[in-house]
Amino acid sequence: MQTSALMNVMIGAARKAARSLKRDFGEVENLQVSLKGPGNFVSAADRKAEETLKAELIKARPNYCFLGEEGGRHEGTDKTHTWIVDPLDGTTNFLHGLPQFAISIALERESTIVAGLVYNPITDEMFTAERGKGAFLNERRIRVAARKRLADSVLACGLPHAGHGDIGQNQKELVAVQDKVAGLRRFGAAALDLAFIAAGRFDGYWERDLQPWDMGAGIILVREAGGFVTDCEGGDAMFGRKSILAGNETIHRDLLALVKGAGKG
Ligand code: IPD
Ligand code: CA
Ligand code: CA
Repeated sequence: MQTSALMNVMIGAARKAARSLKRDFGEVENLQVSLKGPGNFVSAADRKAEETLKAELIKARPNYCFLGEEGGRHEGTDKTHTWIVDPLDGTTNFLHGLPQFAISIALERESTIVAGLVYNPITDEMFTAERGKGAFLNERRIRVAARKRLADSVLACGLPHAGHGDIGQNQKELVAVQDKVAGLRRFGAAALDLAFIAAGRFDGYWERDLQPWDMGAGIILVREAGGFVTDCEGGDAMFGRKSILAGNETIHRDLLALVKGAGKG
C-alpha cells in the first residue's frame, strides 16, 4: 500500500493522540471502582486527544479549517478544506472499560469527504480511505461483504438513550428489521460501525441523530470499499438529516425499504 503525504499526516496525528487515549483507558479501569467514577477523567482524556489531533493537523495543513466535537470550529484561510474530527467515538464504551472506541478523522473538500481514518488504539486497527484509492485495514485492502439476503445478514444499529433520539421511531424501525435479519448489534461507536461495514464484518447499518464527526470518515471508508451510503430517506444529506444507512448495493436497498416503510401501513 502506497501511503500518500495526506494520509501520513492523518495517521501520524491519530497515532499520537492514541498514545494518551490508550494510557487513559487503562486508568479508567482503575477508576470504575471509585465512588466518583471516571466521568470527569474521561472528559479530560477526550479533550486532550482533540487538542493533540488539532495541533498536529493544523501544523501539517495550517490553512485548513478544523471542526472538532469537543472544541468546535476553528477557521482557516482555506475555506474549501475542513478537518472533521471525533477524538473519541464510543465515549460510553470508553467510560465503562469496553474496548470498542476510536479516533475518527475526515477531510472534507467543498462538501465532499476526500479522506477518512478510523483508528481503534486498543485493537490497533487502522481503517483508512482516500477518494478513488480504495479502503484499507492497516496494510490490507478491504471490501464490503457480498451477502445478498437480509436473512443471512448481521446489521448494526443505534439505540436512543437518555436524552437522545426518538425512541418511538427507533422501535418501529427495530420491529421492521429485527425478524428479517440473522442478527442485530449495537456496539456503540458509529465510526467503527461504518468501518466494520467497509471491512465486510457487518452487512448493513443505520442510525439517526448522528453528527458529521461520527460519520465523516466512515462514509468514505464504506464507499471506497464498494458500499452504498445514504441518509435514512435514501438521499445524500447525511449531515443535514443527521442520519445514515449503509451496506452493499443489495442490502442497502432492502434495508432502506424497511426503514423508510417502518411504522407505515
Ligand atoms: C456516539 C457513538 C454512538 C452513537 C451516538 C454518538 P460519542 O458518539 O458514535 O455509537 O450511537 O449517537 O453520539 O458521543 O461516543 O462520540
Ligand atoms: Ca461520536
Ligand atoms: Ca466523541
